[in-house]
Amino acid sequence: MLRPLPLLARHRSLIVANGKKFYSTGGSGSGSGSNGGGGDSAGHSDSSGSSGRRLEGKVALITGGASGLGKATAHHFIKHGARVIIADVDAKLGLQTQRELGPQAHFVPCDVTLECQVAEAVQTAVARHGKLDVMYNNAGITGHSIPPSIADLDLEEFDRVMRVNVGGMIAGIKHAARVMIPAGSGSILCTSSISGLMGGLGPHPYAISKFTIPGIVKSVASELCRHGVRINCISPAPIPTKTSITAIAHIFPAATTEKVIDVINGLGELKGAKCEDIDVARAALFLASDEAKYVTGHNLVVDGGFTCFKNLSFPSDQFL
Ligand SMILES: NC(=O)c1ccc[n+]([C@@H]2O[C@H](COP(=O)([O-])OP(=O)(O)OC[C@H]3O[C@@H](n4cnc5c(N)ncnc54)[C@H](O)[C@@H]3O)[C@@H](O)[C@H]2O)c1
Repeated sequence: MLRPLPLLARHRSLIVANGKKFYSTGGSGSGSGSNGGGGDSAGHSDSSGSSGRRLEGKVALITGGASGLGKATAHHFIKHGARVIIADVDAKLGLQTQRELGPQAHFVPCDVTLECQVAEAVQTAVARHGKLDVMYNNAGITGHSIPPSIADLDLEEFDRVMRVNVGGMIAGIKHAARVMIPAGSGSILCTSSISGLMGGLGPHPYAISKFTIPGIVKSVASELCRHGVRINCISPAPIPTKTSITAIAHIFPAATTEKVIDVINGLGELKGAKCEDIDVARAALFLASDEAKYVTGHNLVVDGGFTCFKNLSFPSDQFL
């Protein structure tokens, strides 16, 4: 018989900050800094304590794999025994990443807004390695970082963002499914965002595109589960990458890149940790591997609790 676990001790404390008061639960337990460790795309050590190579013999295709979260994930997958096809619209960066990641990485030029190029990238994986086990639809753009009011929204810009962030994902899912359904197995991943969980965290086109992804995942999971194929998405908090640094630099045009990175790293809520590319890579590794063999239709939020609460914003004493 299952015994109820003792409730974790929690104390609610009144915090005063910026002249405002709010209640917060104390003792997140993360102050030791144990959340912040680990490796990154540059190959620093992995302190996850995982044993063995969890993608041994697997073949993965990662869109937007030339930089940022895609590159970090490619590096992590290779470390765990996978052979990785990096599909990216930036050929120069893609070839450079291929060289950096070594012989287990192969770059294919691919603009995810062009279905034929996505189909070709999948074909390349199958032609080179005879199969496709993991398809990570990760390529995405933010669009203009200083959003106009919805009343002034440029529908061309909206379409542009949706074509990459939603159309590109769907093309990737479609062409992966064409290989995985006959194989009777496979794991499809998509990168969403916390901007797809709460309003106000990004420009409207970006946020709307990211809200769409968990819906796509559920819809497609309903069909693919009958074929033994899993599909999930990952919703990260802000992480300093080329895209996010450029977007935030537009908001703080006078700031140095280092300052912009500090701003991004300071956006989190979890004490003693910041969101890093390796956190997404590890989430992707879990979902891609057999450890997640019964996980499908899921949105794995990697945000240090950011989207799970909102504090009551009481007025300051002077107001009362
Ligand atoms: N960095 C963050 O803060 C953050 C947070 C949440 C979600 N995300 C999402 O993570 C994903 C990866 O972004 P990143 O932060 O690593 O940015 P990044 O700029 O480092 O990488 C994005 C990659 O996608 C490629 N790309 C862009 N358009 C493409 C297209 N049409 N076809 C193929 N490749 C294309 C770029 O060339 C680049 O290599 C995106 O979907 C983004 O929305 C990022």
